[in-house]
Amino acid sequence: MPIKFHKQSREFHLYNDQLSYIIKVLKNDQLGQLYFGKRVVDRDNHDYLVENTYRPVTSYVYDNDYSFSLGNMKQEYPAYGTTDYRLPAVEIKQPNGSSITNFTYVSHRIYDGKPQLNGLPATYVENDNEATTLEVLLHDDVINVDLTLIYTIFNNYDAIARSAKFTNQGEHDYQLTTAMSMNLDLPDDDYDWLQFSGAWGRERQLKAAHLRPGIQSVGSTRGASSHMENPFVILKRPHTDDFQGEAYGFSLVYSGNFLAQAEVDPYKVTRVQLGINPFHFSWKLAPQASFQTPEAVMVYTTNGLNDLSQNFHHLYQQRLTRGYWRDRQRPILVNNWEATYFDFTEDKLLSLAKTAKDLGIELFVLDDGWFGKRTSETAGLGDWWVNRDRLPDGISGLSAKIHQLGMMFGLWFEPEMTNKDSDLYRNHPDYIIKTPDRHASHGRKQYVLDFSRPEVVDYVYNMMVKVLADGKVDYVKWDMNRNITECFSAAYPADQQGEIFHRYILGVYDLYERLINKFPQILFESCASGGGRFDAGMLYYAPQAWTSDDSDAIERLKIQTGTSYCYPTSSMGAHVSVSPNEQLQRQTPLKTRADVAYFGAFGYELDLNSLPETDRQQIKQQVAFMKKYRQIFQFGTFYRLKTPFDSNIVAWLAVSPDKKQAIMGYFKILNDVNAEYRRQQLPGLAADLTYQVSEEDGSQIGEFTGNELANIGLVTTDASAGENKETTDFYSKLFIFNAK
Ligand code: DGJ
Repeated sequence: MPIKFHKQSREFHLYNDQLSYIIKVLKNDQLGQLYFGKRVVDRDNHDYLVENTYRPVTSYVYDNDYSFSLGNMKQEYPAYGTTDYRLPAVEIKQPNGSSITNFTYVSHRIYDGKPQLNGLPATYVENDNEATTLEVLLHDDVINVDLTLIYTIFNNYDAIARSAKFTNQGEHDYQLTTAMSMNLDLPDDDYDWLQFSGAWGRERQLKAAHLRPGIQSVGSTRGASSHMENPFVILKRPHTDDFQGEAYGFSLVYSGNFLAQAEVDPYKVTRVQLGINPFHFSWKLAPQASFQTPEAVMVYTTNGLNDLSQNFHHLYQQRLTRGYWRDRQRPILVNNWEATYFDFTEDKLLSLAKTAKDLGIELFVLDDGWFGKRTSETAGLGDWWVNRDRLPDGISGLSAKIHQLGMMFGLWFEPEMTNKDSDLYRNHPDYIIKTPDRHASHGRKQYVLDFSRPEVVDYVYNMMVKVLADGKVDYVKWDMNRNITECFSAAYPADQQGEIFHRYILGVYDLYERLINKFPQILFESCASGGGRFDAGMLYYAPQAWTSDDSDAIERLKIQTGTSYCYPTSSMGAHVSVSPNEQLQRQTPLKTRADVAYFGAFGYELDLNSLPETDRQQIKQQVAFMKKYRQIFQFGTFYRLKTPFDSNIVAWLAVSPDKKQAIMGYFKILNDVNAEYRRQQLPGLAADLTYQVSEEDGSQIGEFTGNELANIGLVTTDASAGENKETTDFYSKLFIFNAK
């Protein structure tokens, strides 16, 4: 069993083939952190790792003892004010105004398998022998509250999933004001902190800086994980790169307000925390009530950032995403949004669908504008019934016609929102999030429904079920186009207003869960004005997400590269759109647009009918090509070979699990003239296999062994680059490797 308890030393050692995680019940019965890193041999006692040191200006726990200070210890789940001055993982406000706690060891349980987290997304196992779980029960005697720290170590992924659960066994109400999902005290500070920052249209751009004393953090206070920051951070050694070196990845399986931070103390201990953002958070813990934090996933590697990412990709593809579509290739879609916006008729849609079908496209998606009085962004949200002026035969009629063409049918919803000009709002003005006596601000002329109230979730559920049950719908795009301000719920008393942000996201999860259970074969794609809620929480419900509203191929190189540090290609909605691009007016070749979008859940988002016939024929070939290689693009092992954050040339590689096939996307952002003779080394292939290398049109490039490709590399340009018409700005080329 890969979790050992050493009774004498009271140490727990969690390990698999690659990593070890060691924690200890300290002398004061609190839990200390001893080690997280490469697998080490087990031993009975690691007392030497507990720092019993005298330091000036330090507070000590025991009378007549100048050695035991929590301020000098590496802890598992620290509290403030018990000799530790760093930021805490937990804070509980008590009736007398105190927030001091002291959670001490009571007992533990080690078992095969992994528990589910009630109402929350989380990684899972299919067989109990895939993972082992440790639950450590701690108790605060003064307030009579239990704290259970839950750790699961997977056998086949270099990952540990963890969370915390609080249960009030006492007689008083308490306010939980900080309840992080994880805390990790690392013994030094020689790390670069990597975060994935952005905004609408330029999500998840890699930003890196060396750790410095004090606190560095990213987070969201918007009610969604947001475009601006992502609930995923990396700590890596300065010399670690994509191919080698030590790194930790921390991912929160949550879609609401979050905080990820690292605090470097004066003794160079790095405290990493990840969880619900304590800002604007409190949870009333009534007697006998429990609070379960979201799950955090920690991955450790000594083999570089590609290996770190691949661990997240495989774990999230195989044991976070669920259901019918988990392992299935994703249908190639056409979405009408950028083809028509709100300006469509049924005839126009059917004509687009017919053309798409002729080109081999498999799924037709009807985006915004099919319901209520929704002919512009100012009206209709919340009225989830068809607009018969536009679609006389209803959704069921349109869906039947699309199915008759031999295509799947998909539909857009924005379940969490309403416009003031809607029947929903006219009948239930109290259903929106707003603060009494305060102005309610809008975003895109819409208001956020109060999903912290179960009756509001029920109301939306019933409307959606009616539509989805009426006509056959194979795919749902679940959009969410504004964030929460003036957060308040009319349904909760004053001492529970700090719960609303979290209750809101629990309501979102509840609606997803109920719809998935009712329609298990629908493929859900999450969306939030593009990639404003691209997080591990969403992947539990929706196996793919619209990566960004910016579908310009060159911008997508950055967005998809940034996203790939945590999330698999199968989860990234990636579409070919029109050129000049609607977001930046940049002109790119149709080939480049497809070559970038192949590395994702592929589709088209443009008016196929208004393209020249030559483009349509090219699209037909692209669709056929994607069908042939989709398994590798979406489920192969993905490598970043060169990234747009520091290179004019970007290269991505996807390799089949048996290593017999691989595809490299090779992109040159700006052309260069009289350039060097370039080679690209290729990791991940089988050294002893010989590969036939070709372009997607079948033209042969040559034959090379995996060993040569890894060490010498593949020649990727010739000396004439810049002097022929083939290589221009925004150039791309695919290299296909087939083992003989
Ligand atoms: C924002 C999404 O990101 C777009 O793809 C589109 O669905 C619009 N909303 C529709 O309003």
